[in-house]
Amino acid sequence: MSGQQAYSYVEKCLDSYKHVFNPDILRDKVVFITGGGSGICFTITEVFLRHQCDAVIVGRNVERLRKSADTLIKATGRRCLYYQVDVRKPQDILNAIDETLKVYGRIDFLINGAAGNFLCPLESMSYNAFKTVMEIDTLGTFNTSKAMYERYFKNNGGVIINITATLHYRGQALQAHVGSAKAAIETLTRHMALEWGPDRIRVMCVAPGPIADTEGMRRLAGGVLPEALTQRIPIQRIGERVEIGNVCLFLVTSMAELLTGTVVVADGGSWLASSNDFAKRSELFTSMSNHSKSKL
Ligand code: COA
Ligand code: NAP
Repeated sequence: MSGQQAYSYVEKCLDSYKHVFNPDILRDKVVFITGGGSGICFTITEVFLRHQCDAVIVGRNVERLRKSADTLIKATGRRCLYYQVDVRKPQDILNAIDETLKVYGRIDFLINGAAGNFLCPLESMSYNAFKTVMEIDTLGTFNTSKAMYERYFKNNGGVIINITATLHYRGQALQAHVGSAKAAIETLTRHMALEWGPDRIRVMCVAPGPIADTEGMRRLAGGVLPEALTQRIPIQRIGERVEIGNVCLFLVTSMAELLTGTVVVADGGSWLASSNDFAKRSELFTSMSNHSKSKL
């Protein structure tokens, strides 16, 4: 099954949103967000639109992007463009940026959220499986950031937020591919912050912990974290998508102007206390995956 065929879920906007910042704080700014058609990045987009930003969401599944853009526009009254982009293909990204600039005339924020994940032990991971995740997550982040730099940020400044994770801080069973990819993104973030700082570009990562109602949670934990594991999290619960949206919102405001080259871990302390039970995860892998161990 290809990645593009795997979803039929239609995204929904929040039932209500409580503004803490001025609801006008992003008026007429523009956010370009990879992976914005679904999950966490859909809600980050919604939070930005609810602060009067305009948006561009990109991904591979154009039908889902269309529905998501429609939903976002109806809920917020702001503009939301969408383009079919595979972040592994620089020309797709360049085209989408050029089209965006034709319509909006500016881009202020880039959020790199496109990613792929599945549970897989190293011993049964194919060469192509590891490569695919590195290419979507790490190369995708590089490709999009570089394209944005060349086309607009070099001359105009901007803010880049890369969505990572916490699983590489200790190493997480069945996540070597994603851990490697996210670790590389966090390192790339520091390099970009260093080289592009003089061009008035800030670059940061947001590293979510487990977030409810997401594809990531469905793939990695079967959708719901068992109560016993939730109780180990210092704040006693997993995160909500909107909380990641709020963190990203803060990072693009002038209140965060000293922040660059750094990672904001937004996980309620989860990774400090998370379990790493290889046997349990292997069981989950076996029950969720139809990939045989003879992939190599
Ligand atoms: N376990 C082991 N290997 C897997 C796998 C799984 N669950 N799913 C895919 N792979 C392997 C494939 O077998 C293939 O390797 P092969 O050529 O050696 O057989 C390789 O990964 C690429 O798979 P393919 O389906 O061709 O890739 P794609 O580019 O169409 O899709 C994925 C990328 C695999 C990451 C897909 O799951 C996806 O699109 N994910 C996006 C959504 C997502 O993961 N959300 C969670 C974010 S936290
Ligand atoms: P999701 O809804 O599946 O989001 C992933 C998005 O990436 C999809 O919209 C997908 O759209 C897009 N994408 C995948 N491959 C792409 C490609 N080659 N080119 C362009 N777009 C591509 O999953 P999520 O759980 O919300 O995850 C969002 C982000 O948060 C990811 O970076 C993930 O690693 C991170 N994260 C999630 C959790 C969690 O608990 N869910 C925890 C930590 C970190 P298309 O299929 O249309 O391309």
